[in-house]
Amino acid sequence: MLVIMIGVFDSGFGGLTILKSFLDKLPEYDYVYLGDNARAPYGSKSHDTIYQYTCEALKFLFAQGCDLVILACNSASAEALRQVQQEFLPKNFPDKKVLGVVVPIVEGVTEFIENKKLDSKKVRVGIIGTRATIESKVFEKELAKRNFSGEILARACPLLVPLVEENWTKRPETKTILKKYLQPLKTNNINILVLACTHYPILFNQVQHAIGRKVFVLNPPEIVAEKLKDFLKRHPEIETRLSKNKKRLFYTTDNVQRFSKFTSRFLNLQSPQIEKTKIS
Ligand code: DGL
Repeated sequence: MLVIMIGVFDSGFGGLTILKSFLDKLPEYDYVYLGDNARAPYGSKSHDTIYQYTCEALKFLFAQGCDLVILACNSASAEALRQVQQEFLPKNFPDKKVLGVVVPIVEGVTEFIENKKLDSKKVRVGIIGTRATIESKVFEKELAKRNFSGEILARACPLLVPLVEENWTKRPETKTILKKYLQPLKTNNINILVLACTHYPILFNQVQHAIGRKVFVLNPPEIVAEKLKDFLKRHPEIETRLSKNKKRLFYTTDNVQRFSKFTSRFLNLQSPQIEKTKIS
């Protein structure tokens, strides 16, 4: 029997926050998760490196039987997705589909503005992410395409990923660092704050506390899963081909034991099937 799965790719563990939401909202499908832990973090790497790593990850996931792959990683979505869709896929894999997280998140921002009936010109959007994501200016570009004319305050927060990975989320040091990162956004009275990095949803409560209750903190995993659901409804030619046996496979390019600790922590999965693999 041909098994066609949904691939979820991240530089490491963080994308498990996105997968968790897929498993909650779209549990019937089969998923393969790949974390390129051996080469993470991506957020401090150049465009060319992120593009090369992402293409290698995609080749691996396609070979596992994934016809649809979601780049859960914001840095890969920001730096590689466009080139993947315009060059890599048409040339090598014209039948495969790759989606990222930036467009769903940006749609979440514009829907928030519409639903709250805010004047787009007066809205201030805060964005936090890795250096690669923030320096790519992809959120500014995608918001501009949707006629957003308000202000955007973007800030790279490179210390947050290691703090989450060390499980320091509740430590006073993390609170202090978050406060420092968010202070300029708070002073500028942002209306909405986008968590544009896979790890930040784990700090959701701490971020909300630091930025204040008046700011709407947009949590990408929920939105990305809702948008995937919507995408599958609009694309029955893809949806009907996906197999639905609730299979979950995990691959990491590094230490399986460490990966296993994170899957239990992020997903509450008991003894998940995890394999180490090479992708380069
Ligand atoms: N997954 C990355 C992202 O969402 C964060 C970790 C990294 O820098 O590799 O941007």
